[in-house]
Amino acid sequence: MAQDRRGEWGSRLGFILAAAGSAVGLGNVWKFPYITGENGGGLFVIIYLICIAFVGLPIMIGEVMLGRMTKRSPVGAFRKLAGDKTLWQGVGWIGVLAGFVILSYYSVVAGWALEYTVLAAKGEISGGDPATLAGRFDQVAGDGTGAILWHVAFMALTIAIVIGGVQKGVEIAARVLMPMLLLMFIALLVYASQLEGFGEGLSFVFGFHTDKLGAGSVLEALGHSFFTLSVGMGAMLTYGSYLKMDDDIVSASVAISLLDTAVALMACLVLFPITFTYGMEPAAGPSLVFQNIPIAFAQLPGSTIWAVTFFLLLVFAALTSAISLLEVTASYFIDERGWSRSVAVPVTGGVIILLGVPSALTASSEVFGAGMEGAIGKNWFDLFDYVSSNWMLPLCGLGVSMFAAWRLGDEARRVQFEVGSRLGKLAGLYVTWLQVLRWAVPIAIVLIMFHAIGLFEM
Ligand code: PHE
Ligand code: NA
Repeated sequence: MAQDRRGEWGSRLGFILAAAGSAVGLGNVWKFPYITGENGGGLFVIIYLICIAFVGLPIMIGEVMLGRMTKRSPVGAFRKLAGDKTLWQGVGWIGVLAGFVILSYYSVVAGWALEYTVLAAKGEISGGDPATLAGRFDQVAGDGTGAILWHVAFMALTIAIVIGGVQKGVEIAARVLMPMLLLMFIALLVYASQLEGFGEGLSFVFGFHTDKLGAGSVLEALGHSFFTLSVGMGAMLTYGSYLKMDDDIVSASVAISLLDTAVALMACLVLFPITFTYGMEPAAGPSLVFQNIPIAFAQLPGSTIWAVTFFLLLVFAALTSAISLLEVTASYFIDERGWSRSVAVPVTGGVIILLGVPSALTASSEVFGAGMEGAIGKNWFDLFDYVSSNWMLPLCGLGVSMFAAWRLGDEARRVQFEVGSRLGKLAGLYVTWLQVLRWAVPIAIVLIMFHAIGLFEM
């Protein structure tokens, strides 16, 4: 039976670790700080936190539920619950498609991190003046062939792990690496707090200022809350499908969201003090973490070891997220098309490798890079990132929330919410969650989307 072939998490903690591994990734350390920088910090961070608590987290609970109830990946889950001939399947489809799109450029960034790990080990980014270290990123990203090779290397790693079955690999990797990543950030935070620019960094991130907030900023905060929590594309649904019937979904979702948010905020509190201390640009874009971290480490004794550890952890954080992305694309073909895992994983992985090539070339090529910006306002890399996180994830998340809140039977839904969970049985929590999912979530998503396409001024 399909169910038996899919297996379950090995331990109670397995799901939390794997799901946290999926959530915590480049979104926290690379993307959140740079979009916070571009949107001027302050109010953007507040809007993001509101989106996490009132949109992302409620949807995560619903999404994990749908996975556990159906034991399917996204398309199959909707097919099983809503029937064959309905539009609900489309929600699952958007998710699978988003998996292809996101992993294709995610892997390019992870490839940069992989290359930085090697550069660090060779001692090439652990000394020298800030300007040289910052310039290093343009060399790395600007070398198209190199970017493609590192992208392929990272995808090969991801494919190898997912073929072998996720459970063991991911559970063990996450168990060791998550605590290390946290410790690393705590150490970095101590370092950053000694810097001259710490106060300025702090007020940049947490101060109330609206200067750079544009029409698209709210959509970007919303989109990123989906991206960072891995919701709105079926990754959490798929991981939920390996969950035992009596595990506590509510507490796990809360824990994952808190951990993810903590890492994202810590990353900002490390990167912006460095930015201001060394007179760099907070709106540096995708290069932010790659330029700032080597500059900070160059000042420390043992900078080589610091740099190798940091970028290695970044690679691992990216890997546990990439695994969940590839698991979604592959499990569609395994569950719905009857492919074997050893065929589905390399085939979808291969498609993703090809899809990522233009993103890898973006920084170096006229065709996919600067030349295109005039015509459509974004290069390939930015376009993929923009469309997937800002539109596909919220749309699929909208579908998940509508389905979980309006279509599921109340009895079954309540059992899913409360089983094994002291938190889930807290008086009023279930009803509050349901009302938020029924009304607040869809209204917020639709209003923010209308606003972003200029239908009305907010
Ligand atoms: N949550 C991951 C991160 O923040 C990215 C991701 C998105 C993973 C969607 C899976 C699904 O890096
Ligand atoms: Na994240």
